Order: sequence, then C-alpha cells, then structure tokens
Amino acid sequence: MLEQFVSTTSFGKTAYTIGFALTDTLVERLSFYPEIVCIYDRNLTTFVSQLPFRPTLTIPLEGGEKIKSREMKAQIEDTMVAHAIGSSAAILAIGGGTILDLAAFIACTYCRGIALHLLPTTLLAMCDASIGGKNGVNVGAVKNWIGTLYAPTAVYIDPTFLYSLPLVEMQNGVVEMCKHSWIGGAGCYKAEDLSPLLAKEPHVLFSSVVANVRFKVAVVEQEGKTPGVRHLLNFGHTIGHALESLSDWSVPHGQAVAQGMVVEAAIARALGLFSDSSFEELAAMVGASISTPKRVAPWRQWQSLLLKDKKRVGDDIPLVLLQEKGKVYLGPQADRYCHGVAQEKVREVLDAMSFLSDDRSC
Ligand SMILES: NC(=O)c1ccc[n+]([C@@H]2O[C@H](COP(=O)([O-])OP(=O)(O)OC[C@H]3O[C@@H](n4cnc5c(N)ncnc54)[C@H](O)[C@@H]3O)[C@@H](O)[C@H]2O)c1
Repeated sequence: MLEQFVSTTSFGKTAYTIGFALTDTLVERLSFYPEIVCIYDRNLTTFVSQLPFRPTLTIPLEGGEKIKSREMKAQIEDTMVAHAIGSSAAILAIGGGTILDLAAFIACTYCRGIALHLLPTTLLAMCDASIGGKNGVNVGAVKNWIGTLYAPTAVYIDPTFLYSLPLVEMQNGVVEMCKHSWIGGAGCYKAEDLSPLLAKEPHVLFSSVVANVRFKVAVVEQEGKTPGVRHLLNFGHTIGHALESLSDWSVPHGQAVAQGMVVEAAIARALGLFSDSSFEELAAMVGASISTPKRVAPWRQWQSLLLKDKKRVGDDIPLVLLQEKGKVYLGPQADRYCHGVAQEKVREVLDAMSFLSDDRSC
C-alpha cells in the first residue's frame, strides 16, 4: 500500500507520498537540508524524539485553533531568528491542521520562503488540511483571515498516526470526507466504509485517504484552468467558520463544518435548488458524526462574522449551494461555484434550525 505522485499548480510543485511507515522516505528527503526546524504537536513528542536525526530546532505546540494567531507566528519566527535559522533551512511540520496551517504560513514568509515538509497526523489533516497549499492564521474572531498559498515541497501521509487519534477526531475527518463526496468526489466517502474506517482497518484507512487526497488535489489543480472551482471545497465553511468562532473555538473545525453543511444545504433547499430527500440524506450522513449546538448567538453576531467571509462580494452572504448529491449549483451561466444569498434568507434558516439566540436589541 503505497501511492506516490507529484502535483503541479500555478504556485508550485508538491510530492505526495501516502503509505504506512514513511520515516525512511522522510529522512532521505530531509537529508538535503543543513538545518531543520521541527514544529510539532505535543501529542507526537514520542515520534519526534525517536526520529533518526536531530532537528536543529524543535518547537512543540498544543494543537488547537488558538495557536493559529499572528502572535504565535511572530513568537516562533523570533525563536528561529534567535537560532540564526537561514534560508536554506526546511520546516518539518508534524500534527493536525492547526499546526500545519501555522507552520506553512511561517515557511512561506520566513527569509521570503523556506522549504516546507508536512506530516499530517489527524484524519482531517491527511484528507484535507495538508493538501492544496493554503495556510493562515485567525485574526481575533475571524477565521483564516491572513495567510498565503504556498506549495509544500513534500507531504507524507502515513495512516499509522491515526492509531492514537481519539474517536471524535476521526469523526472530524469523516466530515470533510463526506463534504468531498457531496461536492463531486463520488469515491471519497462510502457509508459501508464508516465502521471499518473508525475501527482503523488498514486497507480502508489507506483507500479512503488516497481517494480524498486525489480528489482534493484534482480540484486544486483544476483551479488554473477553471478559476473559482476551488470554492467548491468551501461547502459548509461559511457557516462552519462562523460557528467555530462564535463558540470561541470550542466547537472543533470538523464538527462546525458538519453543522455548516447541514445549514447550507437547508438554505439551498429553501431556495428551491435542493430536494427534501437529498437534504434528509445529507443530514443523516453527517448527523452521525456531530452533536448540535442550539441558540449559539444572536443574529447580529452571526451577521458580523458571515460578512467577514473572504468570498464575500457586496451585502449578500457567500455560499456554495448543492443541487444534488455530487453536484453543486453553478448558476444560470453554469460558471459560478459560490453565490451571494440574501442575509434575510440565511437568517430565516438559522432561526428555523434554532441556531439563533434571542437578542431584543437586534
Ligand atoms: N489549509 C487547508 O487547506 C485546511 C483545510 C481544512 C482544514 N484546515 C484547518 O485545519 C484545522 C483543523 O485541523 P485538525 O482537525 O487536524 O485539528 P488540530 O490540529 O487541532 O488537531 C486535533 C486534535 O488532535 C490532536 N492530535 C493530532 N494528531 C494526533 C495523533 N496522531 N494522535 C492523537 N492526537 C492527535 C491535536 O493535539 C488536537 O488536539 C483548522 O484550523 C482548519 O481551519 C486547513
């Protein structure tokens, strides 16, 4: 079980390796760098301490949304400067999506860009966050507001790391796999694979990860020829990002995207684009992985965050709208992957689904 390929996009080239026990590949590729800065999740301390080489600098972090900040970025950069890390160094990032997003942003700007090697260790990071070159940090309550597109030199996806991952984190990864299947990646999630996936059967882990990586890489590569297609991957994220922020980051990304997918599908249904039966199927599929928060915040707070979504143009709220399973609504010219939806419609659906709390001043 080994899959290797190179992806080329307008912003660079990345070598992907998917398989079990990839340490030798990693060691060989990293041997070309005079200095290695290893930014890693504390949960992976044992793995890092057993690496057959000693990184020049090791920076352990507590994984989680709160490390994705400008302050943390500056703090790590200061440490790298204090150790005189130069432009020929590589960053090796080991962890979930939060570590990878932060470390990749640092790699992109440090000495105007140094080499970046990613070792994702959560299902979500393997199937989504390590793919496609996006990085960034949150700014206050606003998710991923500052960041870049930067191609890692290499991504090593080793499902062995999933054996220490708690069930809830496996479920967070399953959400992004479901998302891929609803926006067009037919092979990305199969209901019959859920139990063996959560039971961490090696063949199912491998085939599921490969299908999701291949799907996301294909969408990202297509962006060069079909501008805007990458927005597809944002299905569930406009609402999901607002929910993460409104919960002060206590609702994890995967759970928030699951809620976001259900709400955004309900909005597509309210607009007459998406059928009741498809909506029920989607809600049942992602509902298995999530708990539903109620009365999250008053509309004014939702509105303020939803209008800070990066895709916004004008006063409407930008959303990816499903038409049917595996098919996104592209508008009358069949060329738009994201659509502005009137604020009142979004408010109505959030209210009907009990996401709004009372606020008499609104
Ligand atoms: N750049 C992108 O394209 C992209 C795409 C999707 C998501 N993201 C970002 O990814 C982040 C979410 O990623 P995540 O779900 O991996 O979150 P995370 O990094 O917070 O990891 C989740 C939890 O798992 C723990 N963990 C990590 N690896 C482990 C292991 N092998 N064993 C045991 N515990 C382990 C972490 O310490 C953390 O508590 C969000 O910030 C999201 O915005 C980025």
